[in-house]
Amino acid sequence: MISSTTPLAASNVSRTEQRQQLRADLRACRESTLRLAQDLTAREWRRQAHSDFSPIGWHFGHIAFTESLWLLERLQRSPCPYPQYQKLFAADGLPKAERENLPDLPTILAYMADIRDRTLTFLDRVPLGHQLRLWRWLLQHESQHAETATYLLTLHRWPHTQAQVPAEVFPSAPLPVWEEASTDSMVFVPGGELTMGNDTVESLDNERSPHAVEVEDFWIDRTPVTVEEYAKFIAAGGYHNSQWWQPEGWIWRHRFEITQPLYWQTAQPQTPVCGVSWYEADAYACFVGKRLPTEAQWERAARWHPGQQRQQSWPWGEETLSDRHGNFGGRHGGVTPVGQFAAGRSAIGCDDLLGNVWEWTSSWFDAYPEFEAFPYREYSQAYFDRAHRVLRGGSWATRPWVLRSTFRNWYHPNVQQVFAGFRCAVNT
Ligand code: AVJ
Ligand code: FE
Repeated sequence: MISSTTPLAASNVSRTEQRQQLRADLRACRESTLRLAQDLTAREWRRQAHSDFSPIGWHFGHIAFTESLWLLERLQRSPCPYPQYQKLFAADGLPKAERENLPDLPTILAYMADIRDRTLTFLDRVPLGHQLRLWRWLLQHESQHAETATYLLTLHRWPHTQAQVPAEVFPSAPLPVWEEASTDSMVFVPGGELTMGNDTVESLDNERSPHAVEVEDFWIDRTPVTVEEYAKFIAAGGYHNSQWWQPEGWIWRHRFEITQPLYWQTAQPQTPVCGVSWYEADAYACFVGKRLPTEAQWERAARWHPGQQRQQSWPWGEETLSDRHGNFGGRHGGVTPVGQFAAGRSAIGCDDLLGNVWEWTSSWFDAYPEFEAFPYREYSQAYFDRAHRVLRGGSWATRPWVLRSTFRNWYHPNVQQVFAGFRCAVNT
């Protein structure tokens, strides 16, 4: 079994420190959520950016609704303070199109602030103990909805939201010591047994329980596939040749007349391709004679230290996550050229594993052994349906509270709206 992955989970962290850390995290997370709301138009607040997604304003209301439901109603056993929002903001309340009928932004911000006041008052009084898991889940719930709101805002404003990123964010990294069997673009990852998953206090239900998995030797791309590389697939007629595509992907591509990634731009060729569906990622991998990594391979690449023959918490080791390790938390306003975060390079030599773009894997979203739903069945379990593919690693918009080597995201293979790209792998 793997030891704890963060200082927070370490046994020497006192209850007082846990509470202080939680308060600081809740505040920082909320600040970045509110920053998103700063210059929204009424239309961006209320209207769906796409029929598959709720309006941005709904995500804000749902964040407060969920905080109220789990902390005030379930944990504290208080009556619902805003029964008028129950139908509108519950995940299963209304069809997405009917969620446009929303209170205005100041009303919802006041709702969020009031719920937060109440939960913080409650936090002062409760013994945290085993309840910490639920509080940390809530922080991650807000993080994920705020990221979705970022996709929606980008969609509303595209292409005017294309980030203007300086060419060099941090000095390029020297190549790692582990060079025995690597090429410029791929690294060799030795097979063996790895422990997948995580059961620290911030782990989500779908990361548990940690369990041993065998992988064979494989190769994996050092970086996510860049715009420059993906442009060759487009130029070679990749979107017009069924031989690269899964049958369902080919049907999807025609039905929606897809001819490029959703957030396609060629101004920054060294940035990772962003806004691809799983179908497009898989087709590209076929085109270059590779395939998508399994999530076990991705996790091996992110955690294996070949020299020390052991897994590490973060790609770079045990040092606490910081801005030097990658592009996340919205700090760069968009994707950044690959390979610019020297401190974030993994022990086997992969860059951009955490942050920049989510990475599609070939794996279905499935339960790990001894899975137990938390805090409710519809969080993860309802999606173990062999219709969702796993993404790993986080995007430029991902909050630090969900950025880790074991975090599992999932979407239908036809979704293009996520800030998702991919890297390829090859079996030996
Ligand atoms: C895991 C990001 C796909 O946003 O739909 C939020 C997370 N689940 N509220 C989503 C989630 C319930 C979920 N994703
Ligand atoms: Fe939710």
